[in-house]
Parts: sequence; C-alpha cells; structure tokens
Amino acid sequence: MARDIHKAGSSLPPYFSIDPDAALAELDAPTGTAGFAGIAAACAAGRTDLASRGMNEEGKKELRLFSTWEITRYLIPVAQAHFRRVLKANPDLPQGRSETEGGAKWFTLEEVLRLRAFFAAQGSKAKDYQPYRPEGLPAKMVAVANFKGGVGKTSTAAHLAMSAALDGYKVLVIDLDSQGSMTSIFGGKVDDEWQTAFPLLARHYGEHLRLENQRRLDRGDAPQPLDEALDAAMEMTAQDVIQNTHWPNIDLIGAQLNLYWAEFQIPVWRMAARSWKLWDALTERLEADGVLDQYDVIFIDTPPALGYLTINGLSAADILLVPMGASFLEFDSTGRFFDMLHSTFASIEEGENLAARALGRPGLAFEWDAVRTVITRYDGAQQGELAALMQAYMGRVLSPHKQDFTALIGQAGEQVSGIYEADYRDFNRETYARGRETFDETYAAFKKLLIGVWRREALQEQRAAE
Ligand SMILES: Nc1ncnc2c1ncn2[C@@H]1O[C@H](COP(=O)(O)OP(=O)(O)OP(=O)(O)O)[C@@H](O)[C@H]1O
Ligand SMILES: [Mg+2]
Repeated sequence: MARDIHKAGSSLPPYFSIDPDAALAELDAPTGTAGFAGIAAACAAGRTDLASRGMNEEGKKELRLFSTWEITRYLIPVAQAHFRRVLKANPDLPQGRSETEGGAKWFTLEEVLRLRAFFAAQGSKAKDYQPYRPEGLPAKMVAVANFKGGVGKTSTAAHLAMSAALDGYKVLVIDLDSQGSMTSIFGGKVDDEWQTAFPLLARHYGEHLRLENQRRLDRGDAPQPLDEALDAAMEMTAQDVIQNTHWPNIDLIGAQLNLYWAEFQIPVWRMAARSWKLWDALTERLEADGVLDQYDVIFIDTPPALGYLTINGLSAADILLVPMGASFLEFDSTGRFFDMLHSTFASIEEGENLAARALGRPGLAFEWDAVRTVITRYDGAQQGELAALMQAYMGRVLSPHKQDFTALIGQAGEQVSGIYEADYRDFNRETYARGRETFDETYAAFKKLLIGVWRREALQEQRAAE
C-alpha cells in the first residue's frame, strides 16, 4: 500500500522525495562574514538603480502635479467652473499647465497652496479652506508605534503626514527608526547619526551635565568633563538636522543605520547621571529650538521595539496611534505592547516620584491627549469577525475607521510612496478611488482627534485667562 502512494509521485506535496544529492548539487559553499558584505553591496546597487528611476538629474525626488479635477474634488472645495473663473479673473494666480492643447490643467503643490490661501482670503467664510489650528498653541506631536514589526506604522505615519500636508498643515516628520523607511519615502539624505535626532538627545544630556557640574562646583567637587562628541552636540539645534523634502510643506528629521547607536549610548549617559530625564530629551530640545511654533503637526515614526528612542518618541507625543492588523497574532501582541507601555512608564513615574516626594516637589505623571489603535491592511471579507471582536474589547480606544488593504500600497517603487504620490491616471480609477478613500478616512478620523485635542486646549487657555 505504502509503495502505491509513493508511486503516485506527481500528486505528492513538494516536500516529499527530495533527493539529498540533488539538494547538495544546488547548494553553494558555506557563507562567511564577508558574504554579508557581498549581499549588502548587491542590494545597494539594486537600490541605486531603483532610486534613480523617477528622480530628477540631481537625484532628488520630485512630487507629481495635481489636476484641476483633483484640486476641486479633494483639496479646495469649489466647483470646477468657479475655480476656472477665479483663475481667469486673477491672472497673477498660478494658471497651471496642460500637457495637450486645451487639455486638463496641472499644478504643483506649491501652487495649490497659494491658490488655497487666495480662496481662503477671498472666498466664502462659511467654507473651511484652511484647516483648524488655534493661534498661539504649540504643534501637536503624534507618535505612531507598536513593538510588532510590519503592522503599518510607517505607511500610516507617511500617509497621515501627506494628507495633513495636502490639507494645508505644515508638517514635520521625525524618523526614529534606524531602518530609515520614512526617510526613504521622503527622499532624505542622511550620512551619519549627526544628521538624525541623535545630536538633539545628546545636547539635552550635555545641558543636564553642565547644570550638574555647576552643582558639583558649588559643592567643591570636580566637574565631569563633556567628551568631544557631546561638546560638538552642544552647538547643534533642530534646524541643523531638519531637511526639506520634495513636499513643499513637509520637512524631515531623517534616520539611518547609525541612529541605532543611540540605543547603546542613552543608557550609558543615564548611568553616568541618574537624574537625567532622558524621556524629556526630544520634546524639550524641539521646544527650545522653536520647532513647536514652526509646524502644525509633527509625526514621529518609531522602530518595532520599545527601546530608548521609542520611549523618547512616545513621551514627546500628544497623540499616540498604535496600528495593528486584524489578526490574532497582531491583536495579541498589541495587548502586550500596552502592557509594556504601562510597566515602562509606571516605573519611570515611580522612580521620579520617590525622589519628588523626598524633595517635596510635584510628581511626574505622563499624559497623552489621545491614544488610539488603528486597524490596518483590513480585509473585510476575511477579517470582519475578528475586527468586531477587537472593537468589542477595545471600545473607544480602537479607531472606528479600518484602513483597508490596498494593492496600491507597497507595489510602487522608490519614486512613488503611497496613494497620495501616485498619479491617478496610472491606475484603474476605481482602484485609485477605493485606495484613496480608505486613507482619506484614516486621515479624517485622525484629524477629528487632532482638532478635538486642540480645541480642548484652546478652551482651557481661554478659561485660565478669564
Ligand atoms: N493599507 C495597506 N494596504 C496594503 N499594504 C499595506 C498597507 N499598509 C501597509 N502595507 C504594507 O505592509 C508592509 C508593512 O508596512 P509598514 O512598513 O508601514 O509597517 P511598519 O510597522 O512600519 O514596519 P516596521 O515594523 O518594519 O517598521 C509594507 O510592505 C507596506 O507596503
Ligand atoms: Mg516602519
């Protein structure tokens, strides 16, 4: 009987009947350390090839143009005919360019932003051409985090950054992931850790050390010297590490492999100065350098780990978004992520409050304006039941909008990242519309949070002033 089964070789699963000698014949020699360098070099060459497609001569990314249809449909809510009339009546305004005689007019995003400002100044007061931002309040910082990898953190952060920019907000994106995916999306150039958020953290520590040294001197103790690297960081500001991107209203603090070094350096600093509040480093440096007044929204992309960089990003954040797929493993691991967040921040608070009580100072209590989990890569046909269960258990913490899986994400190459950079003419209209809709909805759910927390703060300020 058994023999008969073996004879029907063609219907056997592929992992049966592998001949050891045939397997050996296909095998290469064992790999040594140098083998990794070879693989890395091959990848780098392929990457350069990919990256060079769709970039201009200087090797910089270029943002596509926006058509009249798209502008009036998605960006400036006026009728097309009215839009054309206003442009005609105001020859100083950008007039766009057409690819064919009498064809559709296309505009750069800079031009769209100028047009929007014009409509906001001239147009109907009833329409909100410019998005809500209360005057005098600092930018809102948004961290996108989950220690599970590949759940859509970077895609979500990048799409939110782009939709906020299209909506008219001035956006800063901070990449805290040494994988640098966000940096690639925004075409960032980062040579080493000195062009990342690292020097901001280093300076925060350096400032702390200097204060400590003053105390030491007052006590008659010898000061702790700042090493060369720290000394260099003391001269650096956020402006030194912020770069422009191919989006006129999105700037970037990039990341690169060397940023990982921070995960080793930060605990060493903390050991040397137990009173250094490492979790305040990013916020306080951004604040000191005026960054919170220069932007409206700051998105922080974090690595799939709860390391020191993530802790910094999380404690800087006003709004925390936690993306996860509607799968058992991702739900399970997200639950554990919140457990880790709880123990990490509770232990920081405990440590601080022990000292605070001893000194009679006010204690430390972390607070976030809003925390939401967001279902990403959702497949309604397969995951409806699980998503409903997640909704039942998570309640309001789970954002009501599920971000659909869309084939448009991730299929594009290096030059186009996501739905907002894609030219709708390259796709079937329906695919485009569906993909766009789900990310527009993701943004709408986020914007509601953003406006709500700003409003709450504005009212609090108002009441305090009365
Ligand atoms: N809505 C979506 N539809 C289809 N694919 C998606 C969607 N969102 C993300 N993806 C794909 O899922 C993969 C992981 O996404 P992403 O890189 O954003 O995750 P991540 O959490 O940032 O990963 P990491 O933990 O490595 O930083 C990518 O290939 C991305 O293109
Ligand atoms: Mg990522």
